Amino acid sequence: MKNFKQIYGPWALITGASSGIGRAMSEQLAQQGLNIVAVARNQANLDELKDSLETRFSVKVRTLSADLSDPQASYDIDKQTTDLDIGLLIPNAGIENNGAFIDNPIEAEQKMLTLNTTSPMLLSHLFGQRFKQRFQNSFANKKPSSQKKSGILLTSSLFGYQGVPFVSNYSASKAYILSLGEALNVELKPYGIDVSVLSPGLTDTAMPGNMAIDFSKMPITLHKPEFVARTGLNALGKKATVVPGFINKFYAWENRLIPRSWPVKLFGMLIKRAMTVKTNNVAAKVNV
Ligand SMILES: NC(=O)c1ccc[n+]([C@@H]2O[C@H](COP(=O)([O-])OP(=O)(O)OC[C@H]3O[C@@H](n4cnc5c(N)ncnc54)[C@H](OP(=O)(O)O)[C@@H]3O)[C@@H](O)[C@H]2O)c1
Repeated sequence: MKNFKQIYGPWALITGASSGIGRAMSEQLAQQGLNIVAVARNQANLDELKDSLETRFSVKVRTLSADLSDPQASYDIDKQTTDLDIGLLIPNAGIENNGAFIDNPIEAEQKMLTLNTTSPMLLSHLFGQRFKQRFQNSFANKKPSSQKKSGILLTSSLFGYQGVPFVSNYSASKAYILSLGEALNVELKPYGIDVSVLSPGLTDTAMPGNMAIDFSKMPITLHKPEFVARTGLNALGKKATVVPGFINKFYAWENRLIPRSWPVKLFGMLIKRAMTVKTNNVAAKVNV
């Protein structure tokens, strides 16, 4: 891994830092000597992370307990960190709803949409402004070595590369992130801000375990969060988008070679077959 502390340090802010991919990123960055602002809802899990990182890597960790499905929380995080020189933002927290879209409670769909799209957008906007200012201030020094680059690493999903029936709103939320990040990668470059989008396939975290889908019935590979995190971090500053794993790359690229409707139907068929809870007969009869 490149020297993240030197390029983007001294502080990184990670949402969803207490578990899964976000936790693996927190550990890999702390190992490199970056101080971490760790955001999630459960304070006990954040405290455990703080203890672990501070003890093992001699870094500073600030924990912020926040529910990012409330838009105000993203503004609060910005305000609560103005005293820190943050150079790396990883708005990674996300959840996945699945099942027949119109049978799911609309409030749950709305909450997921805010967490998965509005929060990363707000944080990218608020911290993008800070990063631009940081770059311009350092530019005033006139020494090329003192110019401060920053980074934003967004978390999309392989499901963001096409609509996925029965995971419809989630896949749409991740398509938004993919598109936002691809565009910001170009738009923010003049301000010394590297933007990349990590699109994991199935990853061995708490998330897939909470879904009513038996992924063993699908032709996909399960990756470790450490591998996924490292792949994403390594892409920052090099690539606009990255999909970890060979088979996942194939799924993502196939959409560019064949009509878009084909992978949508394929995923719909696979998910329907793998769903462990049939939400109702209508879902089972949908012709995908
Ligand atoms: N695992 C996969 O197969 C997979 C595949 C593709 C993409 N992804 C994406 O990867 C990202 C990380 O997922 P993961 O698999 O690492 O999930 P995870 O292990 O379930 O971790 C989710 C993290 O987000 C936090 N979080 C959840 N809801 C939150 C809320 N409302 N406000 C603030 N924090 C919240 C959780 O902590 P609290 O519960 O304490 O809040 C936890 O730290 C997500 O954006 C997900 O969509 C995952």
